[in-house]
Amino acid sequence: MATSLCYAKPLKPFSLRLPQTQNPQIPTQTTQIREAETLTITGPTQLSGHVPISGSKNSSLCLLAATLLCSNSCLLHNVPTGLSDTKAMLSILRSLGAKIEFNERNKEILVNTDGVGRVEPCLEEMRKIRGGFFVIGPLLARFGEAVVGLPGGCDIGERPVDLYVRGLRALGAAVEITFKIFPWQFLICGNRLCKPTISHSNTEKMAGIANFCIITSDDTGLQRDGRVLAHSANGKGLVGGSFHLDFPSVGATETLMMAASMADGVTVLSNVAKEPEVIDLARFLNDSGACVYGAGSDKLLIKGKCQLRGCECYVPPDRIEAGTFMLAAAITRSLISISPVTPSHLSCLIDKLKIAGCKITRCNNDTLEVSAIPENVCENLRGFNVRTSPFPGFPTDLQPPTMALLTTCSGSSIVEESVFDRRLGHVRELQKLGAKIQVCGSTALVFGRETRSALHGSQLRAADLRGGVALVLAGLVAEGTTQISGIGHIGRGYENLDTKLQFLGADIKRSIAMASQL
Ligand code: UD1
Repeated sequence: MATSLCYAKPLKPFSLRLPQTQNPQIPTQTTQIREAETLTITGPTQLSGHVPISGSKNSSLCLLAATLLCSNSCLLHNVPTGLSDTKAMLSILRSLGAKIEFNERNKEILVNTDGVGRVEPCLEEMRKIRGGFFVIGPLLARFGEAVVGLPGGCDIGERPVDLYVRGLRALGAAVEITFKIFPWQFLICGNRLCKPTISHSNTEKMAGIANFCIITSDDTGLQRDGRVLAHSANGKGLVGGSFHLDFPSVGATETLMMAASMADGVTVLSNVAKEPEVIDLARFLNDSGACVYGAGSDKLLIKGKCQLRGCECYVPPDRIEAGTFMLAAAITRSLISISPVTPSHLSCLIDKLKIAGCKITRCNNDTLEVSAIPENVCENLRGFNVRTSPFPGFPTDLQPPTMALLTTCSGSSIVEESVFDRRLGHVRELQKLGAKIQVCGSTALVFGRETRSALHGSQLRAADLRGGVALVLAGLVAEGTTQISGIGHIGRGYENLDTKLQFLGADIKRSIAMASQL
């Protein structure tokens, strides 16, 4: 099987029988246990060797949601089954009645959604991840109804769902948002504290502008408790329509693509996301019998079909994990190779690393070698400026680990986060290691170092997925010991990060911390 290219092909009904594992339920580690785990890194370290890149988290979440559209079974290869986000998505599908078999060793998952008998997925699992919200599209399209919790995911800014809601309405859905608020709870909207009771029309308006969460008065029950209720307004099913996205949201584009692929008639979506994950989804939908045109451009034309059938597909490599390991090589001034990887998906990062002075060599179609070893780089790596933007721009998910690298480069660099409005939470933790960074709004000015060993170990806390991995990268070059708590966030998006880094020569250990250490 080719590992560099993603592919999807129709799956013959009942043709696949995966070996049953002893326990077909994927174990879900509780947040409490993961919260108690820490990573201890002793630096500075140099890496060497080869690292295998796992299947894409974001593609997997979306493709798993898309299985809800298909009759018969879907077989997904190269799924990052070790990620807690994948486990949460599988629990969401299971809570709807989907049958799931998986072969952990081969990273294969067989999903059959023919027995889905509910349209309301488990609220607790929905709160854990952003991608769970995607199921609203396929549930509405295939079953005409959906009741889903407002999504969770990283706290990196106001992450409304207004584009999903307005887009689904354009396809003939009636959508409303409800909240359950108890007298002892307070509603937090962005950074504003609202009255405990608010009118229904207010809640919907606010869901359009902000991430909602409700906190209990003892501050232990942080939870989002909003629900989105949707059904096809005509009682028959969705209908094709036109919708222009104000911002090319990845999740909204994917959700609307899935909904439109079974709507009656033609749908035109404009200003859509062009991310590779959108192309992966279009390929999957087309191989399931849908007609999706234009993926990768800013306009999609979708001819709805009344039935889609299961297919087989390969989840492409995770471009964000690949980029993170390239940055790990750069920050540790090392030489490593990575595969499988699609270099064209990382061209922005490759360009920046070349400006810094790294050597990047394409060894074959799907392997990259990244070198920042002093013999290959005549002087210290140079800083560069970064502005995040939707694909093909610099990925926002690589902004935090890139900032970690910039703290070790010479000169000063400007990092501008333009996709999410609160994605600089890692700055305070990097400062604890001795990094010099000034923040103004969504922009950070990073003062680099003349020598790379200026960071020193400290006790840190990961507050989100990509911010957490930035701390790991900084810990690899900080003098002494760096201990990072909150690593459950990292396990959401990096499979075996500590093991992969150990294999490259890093001194990194995972352990359960005593409560007082956290
Ligand atoms: C996806 C990725 C995430 C990545 C992000 C941007 C998944 C599971 N996650 O997240 O890793 O960082 O793309 O590349 O695929 N927005 C609205 N209204 C909406 C939806 C989004 O205003 O209805 C705004 C968001 O607040 C944000 C921006 O659009 O400022 C981008 O968000 P979006 O592209 O939707 O990100 P996600 O799909 O959540």
